[in-house]
Amino acid sequence: MESAIKIEGLTKEYLNRTTGKMVRAVDDLHLEVYRGEIFGFLGPNGAGKTTTIKMLLGLIFPTKGDAWIFGKPIGDVGVKRQIAYLPESPYFYEYLTGRQVLDFYARLFGIPASERKKKVDALLDTVGLSRDGDKTLRNYSKGMLQRIGIAQALINDPELLFMDEPTSGLDPMARIEIRDLIIRLKQQGKTVFLSSHQLLEVELICDRVSILNRGKLLKAGKLDELLPSGRVEIVAENVSDDGVIAKIRDAGGIVQRQDGRIVVQQPDDASVNRVVDIIRSANGTIRSLIPQRRTLEELFVSTIEEVEKK
Ligand SMILES: Nc1ncnc2c1ncn2[C@@H]1O[C@H](COP(=O)(O)OP(=O)(O)O)[C@@H](O)[C@H]1O
Ligand SMILES: [Mg+2]
Repeated sequence: MESAIKIEGLTKEYLNRTTGKMVRAVDDLHLEVYRGEIFGFLGPNGAGKTTTIKMLLGLIFPTKGDAWIFGKPIGDVGVKRQIAYLPESPYFYEYLTGRQVLDFYARLFGIPASERKKKVDALLDTVGLSRDGDKTLRNYSKGMLQRIGIAQALINDPELLFMDEPTSGLDPMARIEIRDLIIRLKQQGKTVFLSSHQLLEVELICDRVSILNRGKLLKAGKLDELLPSGRVEIVAENVSDDGVIAKIRDAGGIVQRQDGRIVVQQPDDASVNRVVDIIRSANGTIRSLIPQRRTLEELFVSTIEEVEKK
């Protein structure tokens, strides 16, 4: 797997003006992000997410440590052309239309007039704002503003996109739209570094995640590894025969009867097929078969609580 971001011992200290003490906003962070993945960067408020992103973008300097983007040290001018940033709360002039905003940024990137219109149209299309391009931003919803922010970030056709809490403050519909857009970016081969505390959303779209707390990395890995599937719940109907239920119990299932249905908790994946075979050969109807995976939210809460207790 090709590395998109490699972080070694990245540390940032700030002076807290009230106490006069140095505070470690990011503390000896080690992390690797691979090309083409959506990487979830999680942590409660104040964990150091934005500080990390700003260091990677070369906007602020690390106190210690190193990081590379596509093999080049952070701050490298060539790298800056391959990356883009959607800040936590992007700010645009509200008297401009969506089209004008994008045209403005296209000029900043030195895109010649002959290509600009095509580029802006394509970006409006990518973020689903083709029909709203000529409305002023004053008339945009929060979700539409966020999409203009993403379109703006995509102007230089970046390989790697940093998104800092892109869906915070959005309603569910807008969140789904942004989520779909992020998935489309991945399908185009882009790498997305996504900071968020919308845990369900991260769980739905990220390949790997990490959890940061008080500047320290607590966990990082693939979702499947961090959230091992436990039991599988099988719900079936038309199985009332005691003999059949005994067979399921023999196969390791924990069976509960609930008015005409049975709910089977199967402790491992291997025996699920056996239980399904038993139910089907007894002419039962399978209603659902759901892995009882731990949620990312449970993992997040227990991980943070564990260190906070110490
Ligand atoms: N410019 C700054 N000066 C002093 N302290 C800062 C500055 N920026 C951030 N911090 C502190 O660093 C810590 C991490 O902040 P931040 O990176 O914004 O966290 P997050 O994005 O995860 O909410 C917080 O304790 C915050 O108060
Ligand atoms: Mg932040």
